[in-house]
Amino acid sequence: MGLLDKHGVIERNATLLMVASLLVVSIGGIVEISPLFYIESTIEKVEGMRPYTPLELAGRNIYIREGCYLCHSQMIRPFKDEVERFGHYSLAAESMYDHPFQWGSKRTGPDLARVGNRYSSEWHVRHLTDPRSVVPESVMPTYAFMANTKLEYGQIDNDLITKALETNAVVGVPYTQDMIDNAKADLQAQANPELDSSGLLSRYNNVRIEDFDGNPGEVTEMDALIAYLQMLGTLVDFSTYEPEKNFR
Ligand code: HEC
Repeated sequence: MGLLDKHGVIERNATLLMVASLLVVSIGGIVEISPLFYIESTIEKVEGMRPYTPLELAGRNIYIREGCYLCHSQMIRPFKDEVERFGHYSLAAESMYDHPFQWGSKRTGPDLARVGNRYSSEWHVRHLTDPRSVVPESVMPTYAFMANTKLEYGQIDNDLITKALETNAVVGVPYTQDMIDNAKADLQAQANPELDSSGLLSRYNNVRIEDFDGNPGEVTEMDALIAYLQMLGTLVDFSTYEPEKNFR
C-alpha cells in the first residue's frame, strides 16, 4: 500500500480528518507562539526613544482626527528603493509608544516616518495652508484653518492634554507623574521659545522648541501638528545605532 493510499483513509473519514487537522494546526500554533513567552521583549530597545511631548501628542491627535493616515504611511520597509527615498527602514521600537500606530496601508502621498527636520517649519505652514503653492501638482487637501484654530488642549477648564498623557500611561507609555503634572506648562513651553523651557528639557530628550506656526500670539493646531511632523523619525541616531544580535 503506497503512502497516498494510506492518506486515503484519512480523507474518507471526516472525524479522523478533523482530529488530524486539529493536531497539525495545534503543533504549528505552539511552535509559533511559545517562543514569545520566553524572550524578554518582542520589541528591541533602542536608545533615544521617548514618549511624545504634550505638544507633539496633541499634534498627533490632530493627525489622526484629520485622517492623514488615509494618504500617508509611517512605515519604511527594508527595501532598497524605500530606504534610498525615505531613509533608514522603520524599527518596531520607533512606534512602541504609538496608540494607535500610524503605519498606514495607503501612499497617495509619501511616507512620513522620517519627515522630521526635512523641511523648515515655515515650509510646513505654507504646504498645509496651500499645498499647491509649494508643490503645484499636489492633490493634498488644504488645512489652512489650523493656523487660526486655537489648540484646545492647553485650556485651563478643558484640560484634555493632561488626560491624554494619563490615558497613554494606562496603556503602558512610561509617562511619569512629573510629566503628567506639568503637561500644560510643557505644551506651552515647546511652542514659545521665550518661555522657560528648563522643565520641559529635563523631562524629555531631543525636543525641538520653536514657534512652529510663526504666530507667537497663541498656540494653534498648526503649532501642534508641525511639532509632531518635525519630530517624526528623528529620535533614533542612526549614525550610532546597531541592531541587537538576536534581531539581525
Ligand atoms: C488626499 C490625500 C492626502 C491627505 C488626506 C493628506 N495628504 Fe499629505 N500629501 C499628499 C500628497 C499627494 C503629497 C505629495 C505632494 C505634496 O507634497 O503636496 C503629500 C505630501 C505631504 C507632505 C510632504 C512630504 C514629503 O516628504 O515631501 C507632508 C509633510 C504631508 N503631506 C502631511 C500631511 C498631513 C499632516 C496631513 C493631514 C493633516 C496630510 N498630509 C493629508 C496627499 C495627502
